[in-house]
Amino acid sequence: MSLNVKSKLLKKLFEAKGEPVSGQDLADQFGMSRTAIWKHIKDLEKDGYEIGTVRKKGYYLIETPDLVNEANIQKYLMAKKYGRRIRYVDSCPSTQPIALEEEQNGAPDGMIVVAEEQTAGKGRMMRPWSSASGKGIWMSVICRPHLMPQQAPQMTLVAAVAVTRAIEEITGLEPTIKWPNDLLIDGKKITGILTELQADPDRVKAVILGIGINVNHEESDFPEELQTIATSLKIASGQQVNRAQLIAKIADYLELYISMYEKSGFEPIKLVWESYSNTIGKRIRAVLLNETIEGTALGISDEGVLELRLDDGSIRGIFSADIELPKD
Ligand code: BTN
Repeated sequence: MSLNVKSKLLKKLFEAKGEPVSGQDLADQFGMSRTAIWKHIKDLEKDGYEIGTVRKKGYYLIETPDLVNEANIQKYLMAKKYGRRIRYVDSCPSTQPIALEEEQNGAPDGMIVVAEEQTAGKGRMMRPWSSASGKGIWMSVICRPHLMPQQAPQMTLVAAVAVTRAIEEITGLEPTIKWPNDLLIDGKKITGILTELQADPDRVKAVILGIGINVNHEESDFPEELQTIATSLKIASGQQVNRAQLIAKIADYLELYISMYEKSGFEPIKLVWESYSNTIGKRIRAVLLNETIEGTALGISDEGVLELRLDDGSIRGIFSADIELPKD
């Protein structure tokens, strides 16, 4: 069965909230026979969905497997473009090269590549990114905004704002953003975003947003070296989080904020970003490639560059660095 039909069928069952949906009605809506619908229901069961039948009344959804597949994500999705095309893989080294390949093959704006597990997840500055199976959100979003290459760093901040809003709405937690785009809860990292650019000299062809979120990890799911510096939404909220629903919400907010950015420029995004920031106004240490500098973070420029006032009073723009915040 095409994934599209599968998603749509599941959406119908999901929207019925456990009430039976008539096989004949489904057959009419999808333009196929009742036997074809029955076969699709059997296919869904093979995928782990538990579906009940009431004689003469139809099918109802009992249990959904905890997977971040296309059908599970799209039943929550409101966005028109973002998340409408999804490539789901069980396991891969990293979703970034898959998204890059999709981009080169003409993937549409807003396509998502998502994996249950990454065996060689990539972080910023060539660091590894731990991506335990079935625990987190490991996804790459292909964005095709109308931008000049020098505006690309702003997209990183747009993404941080969209992910923060989505986490707030789904979990009630209040993450803060450490420049440029690390999301923290209680001073520990829950989300990292890696931005990779495909550009001609005068225009951006695509931005690949690699988003990694620690969702349902217990402390023991993290490698030992991360246990003191990383946390998960489940540890922070005490509740299991529906990963597919969170992905759909991120897609909704990416679509909203990216279109706001294209229409109204960076200023409104910058304001929202600053309201979530835990960096601005603080004395921070910036670890750059060849030096470490300290100063007060004044704000971000219109290009998304962090402005730091050094102890000699001079102002320095930071394009890329690891930021260390003072302990509260
Ligand atoms: C960081 O270092 O903070 C950025 C981490 C980005 C991780 C995500 S997980 C999905 C995508 N695939 C990868 O290999 N990395 C990004």
